[in-house]
Amino acid sequence: MSRVIAIDGPAASGKSSTAAAVAQALGALHLDSGALYRGLTRVALDEATTDVTQVLAAADRRGLSLRLVGAEIAPFLDDAPAEPLIRSSEVTAKVSEIAALGPCRDWVNRRLRDAAAGERVLVLDGRDIGTAVFPDARLKVFLTASPQSRARRRLAQRGNLFDAQSLARETAALAHRDTLDTGRAIAPLRQADDAVVLDTTDLTFRDQVAIIVSLAAKALS
Ligand code: CDP
Repeated sequence: MSRVIAIDGPAASGKSSTAAAVAQALGALHLDSGALYRGLTRVALDEATTDVTQVLAAADRRGLSLRLVGAEIAPFLDDAPAEPLIRSSEVTAKVSEIAALGPCRDWVNRRLRDAAAGERVLVLDGRDIGTAVFPDARLKVFLTASPQSRARRRLAQRGNLFDAQSLARETAALAHRDTLDTGRAIAPLRQADDAVVLDTTDLTFRDQVAIIVSLAAKALS
């Protein structure tokens, strides 16, 4: 059985920040698989192409790859951290299109499996980790929250004050991305049959981390 803790869920459900905190509490490594899809999308936008062969060739040429930074396995591009470049609204609007391409998924999954090959426990978050990439994960968590609270959190994360109109706009954008991610042919976003579902709408961040840490500690013992 792998030493992967899989945390999947829809857009802005708090997977990455939760996964990073869980990894820290467990003394494990953390990898946000969405960051790699975002990296490929950044490259596709820069190259102004969605031709998958060209995108992957450019990604390799520009050295899109994972490096260990503390306990984070983070994407690098052009020999520099890919963050925050990969968080732009331009990337967010296009990432589901790039992530639906089979060769892009294979490219990402090879890197995820390499990262999980080490001795240390890996907390990995994404959309298909428990269903497609690591069906033998030690623990699978499916994180959800109401669309409005996800939108509120995402806007707050950006640090801006927001009104009802921008909240409605963000809620719609997240719903659109969820539709693309759940509707695609290859490895769509869905809950694994053996996943623990955690609705975080009414949970504090601290509580949701504590719940997952306790489940993971049990699963790993
Ligand atoms: O914005 P958020 O943090 O929720 O998304 P993300 O984790 O950065 O992922 C960005 C996009 O990458 C998703 O909307 C999916 O289209 C894709 N993705 C995927 O297809 N499979 C994964 N394992 C992770 C992300």
